[in-house]
Amino acid sequence: MKSLSFLRSFGLFAGALAFAGTSAAVAADDASHHGMAKAAKGTTAIAVLVPGQNSKVSGTVRFTQESKGVRVQAEVKGLTPGAHGFHVHEKGDLSKPDLTSAGGHFNPTGHPHSAPDSKQRHIGDLGNLEADANGTARADFVDSHLQLAGPHSIIGRAVIVHEKADDLKSQPTGDAGGRVAGGVIGIVELKKK
Ligand code: CU
Ligand code: ZN
Repeated sequence: MKSLSFLRSFGLFAGALAFAGTSAAVAADDASHHGMAKAAKGTTAIAVLVPGQNSKVSGTVRFTQESKGVRVQAEVKGLTPGAHGFHVHEKGDLSKPDLTSAGGHFNPTGHPHSAPDSKQRHIGDLGNLEADANGTARADFVDSHLQLAGPHSIIGRAVIVHEKADDLKSQPTGDAGGRVAGGVIGIVELKKK
């Protein structure tokens, strides 16, 4: 009967592990409700931008969890020179040609539209991309509002680039005009803590 007692104690052990796993998940979830959810360092995601209707804008936006926030590295081509609103929108739905199916700016905290450096803003408010004379925009910055884990995670939502500049104050969109490109944010690598 040695094997049976082994099975019994293994069962207890597995049960204890499952319990520990559950309480850790609950604690992480609770922390994220207070804006503290953080993916493990090195977690990465990408949005491959495809053109909206009557547009030739394309590009990539990479997201990497770093210790001070999420690093955003964007390269977008085919723009008109100048500033273009750049946001994370609520839905990963690019089914409509004008990309309006992606919904509004991602705003789970119910704040007004604002600038990226505002304390109170839509989580999706990333300001503007600045395109050069060739219509290419490159950006590389770290944002402290974006999250790649927890209930406010941006994974599965959409990055949208706009026709016009985001004025960083008009509600609720910054008056940035049409949507010239969009991409769904997908997982590249989920690091474990
Ligand atoms: Cu937008
Ligand atoms: Zn906004």
